[in-house]
Amino acid sequence: MRMPHRICLCLCLLFGPALLPARAAPEEVRLFAAPELVAAGLMAYVLPRFRLKTQVPVALVESPEGAEVIFATGAPEGVAGLVEGPGGAYAAWARGEASPSAKRFLKWLGSEIGLRTLTAYRQDGAPLLRAVKPEEEAADAALPEGDLAAGKALAYRNCGRCHVVGAENRMQGVGSTPSFAVLRALGDWQARFATYYQRRPHPSFTQIEGLTEPFAATAPPPIVPLRLSVEDFNNIIAFVARIAPADLGAPLQMR
Ligand code: HEC
Repeated sequence: MRMPHRICLCLCLLFGPALLPARAAPEEVRLFAAPELVAAGLMAYVLPRFRLKTQVPVALVESPEGAEVIFATGAPEGVAGLVEGPGGAYAAWARGEASPSAKRFLKWLGSEIGLRTLTAYRQDGAPLLRAVKPEEEAADAALPEGDLAAGKALAYRNCGRCHVVGAENRMQGVGSTPSFAVLRALGDWQARFATYYQRRPHPSFTQIEGLTEPFAATAPPPIVPLRLSVEDFNNIIAFVARIAPADLGAPLQMR
């Protein structure tokens, strides 16, 4: 009477490993987004937020031909615009049969939270996009969401090693490093923070789970590495969004 047990064990050993990876990672969505939106930093802001909610990774591709989902102007007939921005009305649609991940992404973009995420993104102090239906006046004033207390603690602990983050480490930043209040005063602060991990000097010591490549074996981090999850990163940005910009008197030129 022990036989069935053994058979079961054998089956598990045989098929278990083969079954696991398929369940672990949702399929990646290949997205073509309007180049002006990518250049403005919007996708670097939006995609980690979608991933955080759903675990679904979205990879940007260079041409509409290689994409499953398109987010751009010039939607096919019958596809409603989601938001308006620099190029006109932007919509999102699938090319051909949409995978479950692609469907999920499209649904999210059109949902209230998706639209709010799109319209919360600011450039030069003004929202880059606004909802096509002007029902949500509040979206204008919306700031990135997140756990502000966690973001504050993370910013002081991690970024405060070099940056003056606020009053609590006013005397501790590295002199040559811009304070967060000064960075906040720049018109494109949101793009700078959304992509800060790609901007020097950060890549050499920063690891954000799912966003950065592991350090190359030949280039170990020169200082204690700074490790964040995507959620930590979003919480830091939500906190930074609420820092009062420095009063610089005149427009500041950086580089
Ligand atoms: C080891 C020191 C160090 C740490 C830690 C650090 N930074 Fe920086 N950061 C710098 C320096 C130096 C600059 C100025 C670079 C320049 O002007 O070329 C900078 C610039 C920036 C900029 C502006 C980048 C640009 O190109 O406009 C942002 C945004 C920024 N940091 C965000 C952060 C955040 C967020 C953290 C924490 C999660 C952080 N930094 C942690 C040293 C650091």
